[in-house]
Amino acid sequence: MSAPILGVNVDHVATLRQARRASLPDPVAAAIVAVRAGAPVITAHLREDRRHIQDDDVLRLHEIAGGRLNLEMAVTPQMLRFAEQLGPPECCLVPEKRAELTTEGGLDVLAGETEVRAACQQLAALGTRVALFIDPVQQQVEAAARCGAVAVELHTGSYANAGVAAAAHELQRLVEAARIAVQLGLAVHAGHGLDYFNVKPVAAIRHIEELNIGHAIVAQAMICGFETAVRQMLDLLRAARP
Ligand code: PXP
Repeated sequence: MSAPILGVNVDHVATLRQARRASLPDPVAAAIVAVRAGAPVITAHLREDRRHIQDDDVLRLHEIAGGRLNLEMAVTPQMLRFAEQLGPPECCLVPEKRAELTTEGGLDVLAGETEVRAACQQLAALGTRVALFIDPVQQQVEAAARCGAVAVELHTGSYANAGVAAAAHELQRLVEAARIAVQLGLAVHAGHGLDYFNVKPVAAIRHIEELNIGHAIVAQAMICGFETAVRQMLDLLRAARP
């Protein structure tokens, strides 16, 4: 049972740069270091308001990360046009609200099934592997399968934010959703709010193939450098499935 692979989300390297509208730090430089440290996937979220990652960052990430790029984006005609021009190897469709600090909940695939299915078909025609970022809820997993997604990315925010008493219950919801997804032929990814203290129980869920982690790695990188921060996270993922 091998460890889940790590997708290093470099959004918040760009957040720091955009705080000063400067040219540094460069998320692409961080991605190069993450790949050197052993990260198999580089993730970036091109938000509609361009608050951190910019179009040019994604183009450059695509050049350097090649088959490793996982582009997160909203289901909008503009973003779908962008993806069509780029042809990213992996794409994760996420909900977006302008006012939120970060992605607050999963995509409501049930409510938007027609639109999401069309987006999945459009992206699949480019050869892109599509994941849908959803809450760990059976009906959402089933809707994702009906849409023709290759994978679901389970939102781990409720687990990450749960206190000690509720964490076991939230973990069980992830286990159950992952089991259902695999039964339906979907690959399972997970992410959001995972850090060096809470990642191991999620990484130990055997059906989970990929974890996307951003804020905690960038925060740790401030203290000990990007390469060390990525290596430390990779070590935790390996330790979770010895
Ligand atoms: N996965 C998805 C789909 C996300 O939207 C985010 C946040 O941008 C993450 C993973 C990473 O979350 P965090 O920065 O809390 O690790």
